Amino acid sequence: MRGLFFVLVTCTAGASAFRFQQVKSMENCPDHTVFFKHYYELHGEPVVLKCPSPSYKHLDFSALTPNITWHKNGSKTMISGRDEDPRIWAKENALWFLPVMLEDSGVYICTKRNSSYCVEVSIHLTVVEKTAAQEIAYPQVLFTFTSGKIVCPDLWDFSPNRTSLELKWYKDALPLEDNNEKFIILKGSNSLIMTPVLPTDAGYYTCKMSFPFEGVMYEITRTIQLETVEREKRITPIIVYPTQKTTSTVLGSKMTLPCKVFVGLSSHVQTDVEWLANDTSVDVVYKQSRVTEGERQEIVENGENFIEVPLIFDSVEEMDFYTDFTCLAQNRYGYQVLPTRVKQEAVGLSWYIAMIPIALACVIVGGICWKRRDDKGYSIAKV
Ligand SMILES: *[C@@H]1O[C@H](CO)[C@@H](O)[C@H](O)[C@H]1NC(C)=O
Ligand SMILES: *[C@@H]1O[C@H](CO)[C@@H](O)[C@H](O)[C@H]1NC(C)=O
Ligand SMILES: *[C@@H]1O[C@H](CO)[C@@H](O)[C@H](O)[C@H]1NC(C)=O
Ligand SMILES: *[C@@H]1O[C@H](CO)[C@@H](O)[C@H](O)[C@H]1NC(C)=O
Ligand SMILES: *[C@@H]1O[C@H](CO)[C@@H](O)[C@H](O)[C@H]1NC(C)=O
Repeated sequence: MRGLFFVLVTCTAGASAFRFQQVKSMENCPDHTVFFKHYYELHGEPVVLKCPSPSYKHLDFSALTPNITWHKNGSKTMISGRDEDPRIWAKENALWFLPVMLEDSGVYICTKRNSSYCVEVSIHLTVVEKTAAQEIAYPQVLFTFTSGKIVCPDLWDFSPNRTSLELKWYKDALPLEDNNEKFIILKGSNSLIMTPVLPTDAGYYTCKMSFPFEGVMYEITRTIQLETVEREKRITPIIVYPTQKTTSTVLGSKMTLPCKVFVGLSSHVQTDVEWLANDTSVDVVYKQSRVTEGERQEIVENGENFIEVPLIFDSVEEMDFYTDFTCLAQNRYGYQVLPTRVKQEAVGLSWYIAMIPIALACVIVGGICWKRRDDKGYSIAKV
């Protein structure tokens, strides 16, 4: 199967901790890093947040793995094990929420230490209502007029076997039938194959998986926003990460912001990927090398070529919040630019708070409509 696809990954979790123990020694942990991924989850679903493993050069955690603790930012207490809190518990490098709730949104910090050294990593978790699933959809892209597959992402924490997944798929909320000629749902796998992919196939897909845990049945939902592109355009590079226009961080933190570029079947060498700051080379703007462009990685996933170039902040300073960062990917057929900003951590998750008046307004308007309908027997449309 020539699956032409790629997956953008995001995901994770956090924990609001109700019952904790005191964190013993925070003062000897000078090294603070912000994990670039931001985890978006649905209220009421199981979530596992993982303390990141050493994937970037300047973060070598391997020597520190045994001693991992978790706490929520702003709380001095450590998140305990399962026996203390059956909803949120820490186990080694994982933080479990069974299930996660809206109020768990926030920044979670995992601390890895050995006797002489320690590193803290901040991980962002945003929990939204189930009705907002499309706002946190995973972007995926397929080429048209060939077969392609989309993947139900981030399930492995809930399916250690990796072979016996049972998923239900929906397109724009309608269930996809298994005997449909166009869609093939591979038994036990996390993918949905479509032959051929047409421009009209773009849209929202949802996959659902049941997750039984100690007698309780939970449901895991992932929403995918499928974009389709013409096959001919594959020669132009496509930036697939970062997806968000801003990345929040904390002054003084280390941070890595990868730019991941899809080049399809084109060779890696033909494509140039670089980061600019205020439209100038990073090494020119940051002469002291506080912010640098990391090593270029050439990646092959499912037969497709990707290039990843990280932008590395040794320590985030205020001026970075006012700097335009741009990832530029180009080859001789075309180019794509992706502007992005670094912004200061808003502890209260500002967009989320901004939603509250809107949600309230909806409730009030909805309430009025229903009330009038009851009183006078009008249809909602008439009101
Ligand atoms: C602790 O971790 C640091 C960083 O990985 C390493 O350099 C150091 O050797 C470790 N110390 C011990 C005692 O293992
Ligand atoms: C974790 O750290 C504590 C001291 O902070 C130490 O006593 C303990 O042995 C460590 N545990 C492991 C598994 O390394
Ligand atoms: C943690 O919370 C404090 C205030 O409670 C805030 O000043 C700080 O920026 C937050 N840090 C992170 C990593 O979110
Ligand atoms: C995991 O896979 C093995 C064989 O591969 C099977 O015997 C076992 O029942 C599976 N476990 C679950 C929980 O599906
Ligand atoms: C980029 O430009 C903005 C606005 O002119 C400025 O505030 C900022 O300091 C500049 N960034 C760097 C890294 O020079």
